[in-house]
Amino acid sequence: MSLSCSETSVDSGPAWQRDAADHLWMPYTQMQTAPLPLPVVATEDVYLVLSDGRRLIDGLASWWTACHGYNHPHIAERVAAQLEVMPHVMLGGIHHEGAVTLARRLADLLPGDLAHVFFSDSGSVAVEVAMKMAVQMWRNRGEGGRNRFVTFKHAYHGDTTGAMSLSDPERSMHAHFKGFLLEQYCRPIPETDEEQAAFCAFLESHREQLAAVVIEPLVQGAGGMRFHSPAALAAVARIARQQGLLLVADEIATGFGRTGSMFACEQAEVVPDIMCLGKALTAGTLGMAATLATGEVFEAFLGDESEKALMHGPTYMANPLACAAAHASLDLFEQHSDLAQVQAIEKSLTELLKPCRSLPGVVDVRTRGAIAVVQVERLHSEEKLCERFVQAGIWLRPFHDMFYLTPPLSITPDQLHQLAGATVEVIGDWSRS
Ligand SMILES: Cc1ncc(COP(=O)(O)O)c(C=O)c1O
Repeated sequence: MSLSCSETSVDSGPAWQRDAADHLWMPYTQMQTAPLPLPVVATEDVYLVLSDGRRLIDGLASWWTACHGYNHPHIAERVAAQLEVMPHVMLGGIHHEGAVTLARRLADLLPGDLAHVFFSDSGSVAVEVAMKMAVQMWRNRGEGGRNRFVTFKHAYHGDTTGAMSLSDPERSMHAHFKGFLLEQYCRPIPETDEEQAAFCAFLESHREQLAAVVIEPLVQGAGGMRFHSPAALAAVARIARQQGLLLVADEIATGFGRTGSMFACEQAEVVPDIMCLGKALTAGTLGMAATLATGEVFEAFLGDESEKALMHGPTYMANPLACAAAHASLDLFEQHSDLAQVQAIEKSLTELLKPCRSLPGVVDVRTRGAIAVVQVERLHSEEKLCERFVQAGIWLRPFHDMFYLTPPLSITPDQLHQLAGATVEVIGDWSRS
């Protein structure tokens, strides 16, 4: 990792930063050439506070997690109270109130009969659990040949190997693991009648080997920040059902209000058989994820034989501190208008980012809920762009061929103006350079 980042030279940064280059292995980062990451010493409301005192509006909500902003007193209180009583216990053979009440609360909140909740510690693991649930459900029912999944172009489902296999093998960041991963079927999301007929024919001809169809509802995240219509999602669900296949909805990014409804599936009136949640589940406080299944899926694991049980169990599953944070976040969704505010955020971002549409090199500007994307022909010098955003007082990271914004849902109109204004200014300079 280079020590030459002009924004944060080691000389001006905090003492602990000196060890970063030698000891901290950063994600998705070429450690030889990347500048040192920015030293963040605190968070507050929608701000990241740097060691030199600068405050940046976090346009990414720490990878879609901090839905109510940072350091919300209600979340802090509930987690602190839980820390006094019981920071952690294993979930094998014993359990605790926070886990049971959170499972019930999620089940009540989710559409349909997604009443059986399996907790884990990250989104990727929640996806692995969903895959194992689907495959083992069929095995428990005597259909052992159903080992493959249908996924979609531009999909991203996580970084563990099973989850990677569900991601688009051509476009995603997992492409160079080709040959190592499980092979799945990757199809285009069927929008038109013809595409839906072709999708149906594909499922029909491969049905015997298939365990489930897996989709990120309405918004595909890290695989391309692409949106599809509620009608396409409803068609995928209908066709999967017609063909007797399970539908897995990965709402790890879209869940908890990001697209304008609590869960994206609601906008298409789709109830999947299995749903994955993560990211904003604890509102950016602690790592936690969940895989929820319907009664029909759950019942396939019941019986006298112990081998029929679901064979998974993360050490930190249903961690009591994370349960407390998730409860507090759900309290806030009940008490405040963060969800109602998503529509206003969508409207403002659509309006405020309009000037980007006519910039040279910009090919698309799109918004859905509290997600905005400025797609460009080609990006270069991403690090310089990051620096420019920081100079403009905001935190954004350009990615592949796009700039994207996923701010906290609690962002105020003034803060949103500042975020979008700085975004337009930096993209404008970039496009004219
Ligand atoms: C749709 C989706 N699924 C799964 C994951 C993986 O979650 P995690 O990074 O918590 O493992 C992500 C992360 O970005 C995601 O966006």
